[in-house]
Amino acid sequence: MKNNIATIMINHNEQIQKAADIIRNGGAVAFPTETVYGLGANGLNEKAAARIFEIKKRPFFDPLILHIGGKEWTGELAIDVPAPAQKLIDRFWPGPLTVVLPKKSAVPDIITSGLPGVAIRMPSNDIALQLIALAGVPVAAPSANLFGAVSPTTAEHVREQLGANVEMIIDGGMCTVGVESTIVSFMTDAPMLLRPGGITIEEIEEAIGEIIIPKHDEFVNQSPGRNDSHYATKTPLFLVDDVDSIDKNVNAGLLTAALINPKTLSPNITKIECLSTTGDLREAACNLFAAMRRLDASGVDMIAALPVPDTGLGAAINDRLYRASRKR
Ligand code: TXA
Ligand code: MG
Repeated sequence: MKNNIATIMINHNEQIQKAADIIRNGGAVAFPTETVYGLGANGLNEKAAARIFEIKKRPFFDPLILHIGGKEWTGELAIDVPAPAQKLIDRFWPGPLTVVLPKKSAVPDIITSGLPGVAIRMPSNDIALQLIALAGVPVAAPSANLFGAVSPTTAEHVREQLGANVEMIIDGGMCTVGVESTIVSFMTDAPMLLRPGGITIEEIEEAIGEIIIPKHDEFVNQSPGRNDSHYATKTPLFLVDDVDSIDKNVNAGLLTAALINPKTLSPNITKIECLSTTGDLREAACNLFAAMRRLDASGVDMIAALPVPDTGLGAAINDRLYRASRKR
């Protein structure tokens, strides 16, 4: 299976069937979800799951999310679904929400990295749902990028990093949400946020009341893969409070969600990616990873990113920018 150059498939129905067959036979395929592209394999098969780690060069201590085709699959993977978890499931599935629940023994330890909790999500993308239904098994799927790199929001992004190693990439166009799912753990005394994402913290708390929200650097204690450094561009990325604090001596690219007149900028800022000209955080989230990739490929020597307002999807965007700015 190595050295197979993956073809990007656009002709859907037939391809989804083929992808489902690959998954049932222990292989790995990349597929679109509403958040980012996932690299999927049979989540009940240890060997198949191991291939995901191999393809992504991902350490085994970083557990995988199981993607399911219906809410009722939850009971086959989790021993218990506490009432607040059920509330979130009923309100936000299918959608960009992952819940961590006490796992049943049917879930292989490789999926949870030996943790007692399993992360489960029902995506809302039609191709993803069809694929899972046809595969007939929970599909383990991390984001379809190399470990630590920027997540893919188009099939082309997947091909650039993993194309030589996956059997198939299903092209479902650009992801509509653009940042990964929100993860809430029910393994702690009170529900705890493990990752801000496509469902906002405000929406979660509106549904089940206050949850525990660790600080940036505390996430890693709860969720082994939540490394301080993540979403890394090859070009160093810095979080800056304002454009004036950008070093004037380097060829810099600017990542912002506010409309900025280039004429007001110092001439060393040669590239600008504006995530939303109207400051719309949904649009900004949707454009984030592609914009980071474009700046990374543009030849600038550093990327300066302005944080966005920390409300709504802004929390997820700022989290990604913070991690992208951390040195490895
Ligand atoms: O939107 C998403 O969630 C995307 C799409 C493909 O569904 N998937 C995704 O997977 O972002 P990944 O592997 O790139 O990020 C999953 C995060 C990791 O930080 C991992 O450590 C955490 O979820 N995680 C997975 N299982 C866990 C568990 N049992 N307990 C705690 N954290 C877990
Ligand atoms: Mg990821």
